[in-house]
Amino acid sequence: MQRSPIKLVRSLESRKSSNSFRTLKPQSSLIDFSSNDYLGFSQDAQIYDASHNLLSDLDLKLNGATGSRLLSGNHLVYDLAEQMLADFHHVEAGLIFNSGYDANIGFFSAVPQRGDIIFYDELSHASIRDGIGSSNARSYKFKHNDLSDLKALIEKNSGDTNQFDIYVVTESVFSMDGDMPDLKKLSKLCEEFDCFLIVDEAHATGIFGAAGEGLVHQLDLQDKVFAQINTFGKAIGCHGAVILGSNLLREYLINFSRSFIYTTALSPHAVATIFCAYEKLKSDASEIENLKQNIKIFKDEIIFQELKLYFVDSQSAIQSCIIPGNSNVKLIAEYLKNNGFEVKPILSPTVSFGKERLRFCVHSYNSAEEIRTVLNLLGNFVKRS
Ligand SMILES: Cc1ncc(COP(=O)(O)O)c(C=O)c1O
Repeated sequence: MQRSPIKLVRSLESRKSSNSFRTLKPQSSLIDFSSNDYLGFSQDAQIYDASHNLLSDLDLKLNGATGSRLLSGNHLVYDLAEQMLADFHHVEAGLIFNSGYDANIGFFSAVPQRGDIIFYDELSHASIRDGIGSSNARSYKFKHNDLSDLKALIEKNSGDTNQFDIYVVTESVFSMDGDMPDLKKLSKLCEEFDCFLIVDEAHATGIFGAAGEGLVHQLDLQDKVFAQINTFGKAIGCHGAVILGSNLLREYLINFSRSFIYTTALSPHAVATIFCAYEKLKSDASEIENLKQNIKIFKDEIIFQELKLYFVDSQSAIQSCIIPGNSNVKLIAEYLKNNGFEVKPILSPTVSFGKERLRFCVHSYNSAEEIRTVLNLLGNFVKRS
């Protein structure tokens, strides 16, 4: 048998001994409190059929894009989708990336330049941190959602801003905690210090805003935000992402963003599905309403079960119950699984040590009874232990 590099062997052993070894599991048929399919769009037959019809109408019966957008992959459906996305989100322009991960990598590795500064929330998603890691700009993290800390950091580091640009990045809904920054105040702060604000809307797209435009639009901040990253793998139920902003930003990304340039484009089918999922968002707000109602039921039940102390305060579809210790949180997840509920334990090092949690994702299609039962089970378990 081939020899394995010793560092790989040791890293895997260390994962096993800290109870944080990751494995791939088959799809679950349990009651879903874990997927990002907040509105059930991934299984929506109307969207599925409409995307086939759109491809037929455009005479795009293709299984793949055949190349990068800059070479042979720029099919008509891309232009249609990007124009629709810009209109829907009320911005000048949009550029589709193959995933939210690619979008963040492509943005942060290309836009902030050597000498520039990036300030980022300490709980920023891995894709933002990886993008910043491949940027030549200096970067500093600020305390989670703490605008005083951010202000102090800007004041300390800004100096002569005629010489460089400052970028500030946050998420409208944090992926592990489900909480939100005070985006209005943050945008004011950015205005005061002449910073470019970037907002990752991954977990707000399809959820906030009357038709799911996101939090930036709900707060009418499109003109204050330099770039938004909206992903399609969550409430939109598809795959891919768009970076929204000015025409200049779009042109710049097309010319300099390596994760846009050096990759095969999403298949026309994937883009048609995005187009049709947004058509559904525009025409039917019922799933968004159901989701909002279910978030309310979930939060009421947290109080009823006397679990408020355990949960991170959140208005979003992500509701996290802190259960310190990888073994403890795995045990509770297993107990819920045995009772028919899929809720993912989030272990360290994905979250910091001591902040391990059960991460509940609430959906439009969860019933009130499912919500009450799963929280009742959680309450019983927590009170027993
Ligand atoms: C805040 C945030 N940004 C970006 C991403 C990456 O998006 P995608 O899954 O489309 O790569 C995620 C995914 O988990 C996320 O939570």
